Amino acid sequence: METTLSAGNRLVGKRVLITGTGGGQGAAAQELFAQEGARVVGCDVVPGAAESAARKLAEQGHDVHGHTVDLADPDEARAWVDAAAASLGGIDVLYNNAAGFAPFADFTVDLWRHVMRVELDIVFHTTHPAWPHLRRSGGAIINTASVSGLRGIGAIGQAAHSAAKGGVIALTRTLAAEGAPDGIRANAISPGFVSSPATDTAMDDDARQYMLNMHLIQRPGTGPDIAALALYLASDESSWVTGQNISVDGGWTAGYR
Ligand SMILES: NC(=O)c1ccc[n+]([C@@H]2O[C@H](COP(=O)([O-])OP(=O)(O)OC[C@H]3O[C@@H](n4cnc5c(N)ncnc54)[C@H](O)[C@@H]3O)[C@@H](O)[C@H]2O)c1
Repeated sequence: METTLSAGNRLVGKRVLITGTGGGQGAAAQELFAQEGARVVGCDVVPGAAESAARKLAEQGHDVHGHTVDLADPDEARAWVDAAAASLGGIDVLYNNAAGFAPFADFTVDLWRHVMRVELDIVFHTTHPAWPHLRRSGGAIINTASVSGLRGIGAIGQAAHSAAKGGVIALTRTLAAEGAPDGIRANAISPGFVSSPATDTAMDDDARQYMLNMHLIQRPGTGPDIAALALYLASDESSWVTGQNISVDGGWTAGYR
């Protein structure tokens, strides 16, 4: 059975920034957050993708905007955060969902640095300019990590990816510790294998089956599976939850069938 989501009012009044809203988990979270009453500004590196996803929701009456931004460029990232904070009048939630993904079999120094930039650096690039706004609002940060940051996965060359996502988990804990005096909460979500535009095209049937075999619940995750937890972490229902990394992974990290 897949996760089904029902609309409510759990994020009414929240000013939310979500990265990577052009597809996959970011688009699913944007839709759910908007239906729950949030005002959302999204972005994506694929030209027009965030704009198009936002437009569909705006046509349904939601307050959602999208922009084309390459978060690997710190200046572009800062400009997007500053403009979003100005248009929303502040930031209550920053959801660092976006990450690039590269095949890692043939490592080079350049590839290693590329993965660090598009998976770890981009979280810094948005969080640093958003920090003063989050201090003012006592806001929440949600960072997308991965089970790859928790477990070694040998067969599909994930060294740089796992190092970057492990860094996201460690960064999240430190942001929680540094932010606590100002009322900032920071939590990470570690998805298992999720069906997304990236994984659907990058994986052949063997690789897909290899991944599925690791899950107790043997289906790929979906955007709504992840968005359901993100909604909780963005809402005031999680006001005593900070510094955590929570896996949404079909039981992958719990054990074997
Ligand atoms: N799909 C999985 O199996 C899986 C598993 C564990 C963790 N994750 C993580 O979940 C998050 C969401 O991924 P997804 O599954 O929705 O995949 P996805 O590739 O569909 O979504 C990622 C989005 O981020 C955007 N993006 C990438 N680099 C960017 C940049 N520099 N600037 C702006 N936007 C950028 C992409 O264009 C894309 O729309 C990522 O952090 C990913 O690492 C995914």
